[in-house]
Amino acid sequence: MLKKARIAVLVSGGGTNLQALIDACASGVIKSGEIAAVISSKEGAYALRRAEKAGIPTAAVDRRSFSGRADFEKALAACIDGAGAQLIILAGFMCILSEEFTRRYDGRIINVHPSLIPSFCGEGFYGLHVHEKALEYGVKLSGATVHFVSEECDGGPIILQKAVPVEQGDTPETLQRRIMEQAEWKILPQAVSLFCAGKLSVNGSIVTIKE
Ligand code: GAR
Repeated sequence: MLKKARIAVLVSGGGTNLQALIDACASGVIKSGEIAAVISSKEGAYALRRAEKAGIPTAAVDRRSFSGRADFEKALAACIDGAGAQLIILAGFMCILSEEFTRRYDGRIINVHPSLIPSFCGEGFYGLHVHEKALEYGVKLSGATVHFVSEECDGGPIILQKAVPVEQGDTPETLQRRIMEQAEWKILPQAVSLFCAGKLSVNGSIVTIKE
């Protein structure tokens, strides 16, 4: 049997997307990959508890304890490389990574974003803010995007997207929950499964899924 791809999942908060990945590994949706480490940019994040419960090694590399981004990223890279990770997943990871960092792991970092990129993305669009902006604008459809990470914030090649309707009376919280349930928790594990099975190829900004 082929060796499974080792995955490092980077988190900052509650970790429901991490949970979707843990469940997908357990159920066989992700067959060719295994989560080798969960690394949090915040000490005490609930995502770390989820990883511990699943028996996955964890590390906290708290952004606030580093004066600069370079030192923070150095510590992050040490954890990722120490875990022997071939793939890095940003699952609710709330730090913007430098060009140096994204180049170092070029084609090996995947992010989930809670909107249909190129709408409601880029600096300042994260977590609930994304849904606040979508509701303010009055869009009738939103959704989620899974994409490779490049030096441009939320600008890398798109792997999968799923649209989700906005409903009358939605609050940022109800919209967030619907997008997580109907889109994020499905397309993130799907994309990871495709990557680990060697089925994704990238040409410029275009991602092709091999049959
Ligand atoms: C998710 O909605 C994720 O897409 C978003 O934060 C939430 C984290 O939830 N990420 C971003 O906004 C990144 N730009 P989780 O910790 O429960 O997975």
